[in-house]
Amino acid sequence: MGMLEDKVAVVTGAGQGIGRAIAMSYAREGAKVVVADFNKVLGQETVDLIRQAGGEATFVFGDVSKEDSVRTMVDTAAANYGRLDIACNSAAVSRGSGPIHEFEREVFDSTLEMCLTNTWLCMKYEIKAMLANGGGSIVNISSNSSLKGQAYNTAYAAAKGGVNILTKSAAAEYGAQGIRINAVSPGVIRTPGVEKYFEEQPKIAEGLKKAAVMNRLGEPEEIAEAVTFLSSDRASFITGQILSVDGGGAVR
Ligand SMILES: NC(=O)c1ccc[n+]([C@@H]2O[C@H](COP(=O)([O-])OP(=O)(O)OC[C@H]3O[C@@H](n4cnc5c(N)ncnc54)[C@H](O)[C@@H]3O)[C@@H](O)[C@H]2O)c1
Repeated sequence: MGMLEDKVAVVTGAGQGIGRAIAMSYAREGAKVVVADFNKVLGQETVDLIRQAGGEATFVFGDVSKEDSVRTMVDTAAANYGRLDIACNSAAVSRGSGPIHEFEREVFDSTLEMCLTNTWLCMKYEIKAMLANGGGSIVNISSNSSLKGQAYNTAYAAAKGGVNILTKSAAAEYGAQGIRINAVSPGVIRTPGVEKYFEEQPKIAEGLKKAAVMNRLGEPEEIAEAVTFLSSDRASFITGQILSVDGGGAVR
C-alpha cells in the first residue's frame, strides 16, 4: 500500500521540474492528482506520464496567481474525486534579477505576485476545501534564497521569505482544525527553469552550481521524496516547518 493511498491531491506548477516530480511521486504513492499549470502541453504531458505509469490524474489549465483559476483547480478535485486531502504549491516564476537601485518596480511587484501572492491564494481555497473535509496537509515550495538572503535576487528571495512566514502563520492558524502546513526549501535543483536561468545569468550560475556542500545539483525527485513524506500521515505531528533539501547548501 502506498503512503498516499486514496488521498486526493493538487499540485501547482506540475507541468515540469519539481512540480512534475511531486505529482508523479504522489500518484506512485496512490494519490489521485489534480495537475495544475499554465502550460497546457506540459501539464497534459504530466497527466499522460502518470496514467502510463498506472496512476490517476486530471489536468487543470490556468494561472494560479488568478483567483478564478485557483477556484477551478480546487473545485476540480472535489468534482472529480470528491474532496481535497493534500496540496503542494510549487508554481513560481522568478521575473528577473539585478541590483535593487536599477530594479523595475513592475518586476518586483510581479515577482511577488507569481511567487508569494499565488501561494496565499492557493492556500485560501485549499484550506477552505480541507476544512470541509476535516483536515489535510499542505506543502509550499520555498527556496534556500529565503534563508540567508541572495544578492541580485532580492525580489525572489523576499517573496520566498514571505512563503516561509506564511507557512508558519497558517500552520499556527489551522493546526487545531487538523490541517498541517509545511514548506520544503530546495537548494539548486536540475530543472528546465534553472537550466534556462543558468543560460541567462552565467555569472550567478557559477556560484549556484557550487552551492551544495555535496558538490552537485539536486534532482527534482529528491525534492519530491521530502514533499511526499511531509504530505503523508507519516508526518502526522509535523507542522509549521521549513525543511531544506539542498545537499547542505544552507550550512555552507
Ligand atoms: N530548481 C531550483 O533550483 C529551485 C530552487 C529553489 C526553489 N525552487 C522552487 O521550486 C518550484 C519549482 O521550480 P522549478 O525549477 O521546477 O520551476 P520550472 O520553471 O522548471 O517549472 C515551473 C512550472 O510551474 C508552472 N507555473 C509557473 N507559474 C505558474 C502559475 N502562476 N500558474 C500555473 N503554472 C505555473 C510553469 O509553467 C512550469 O511548468 C518553484 O517554486 C521554485 O521557486 C526551485
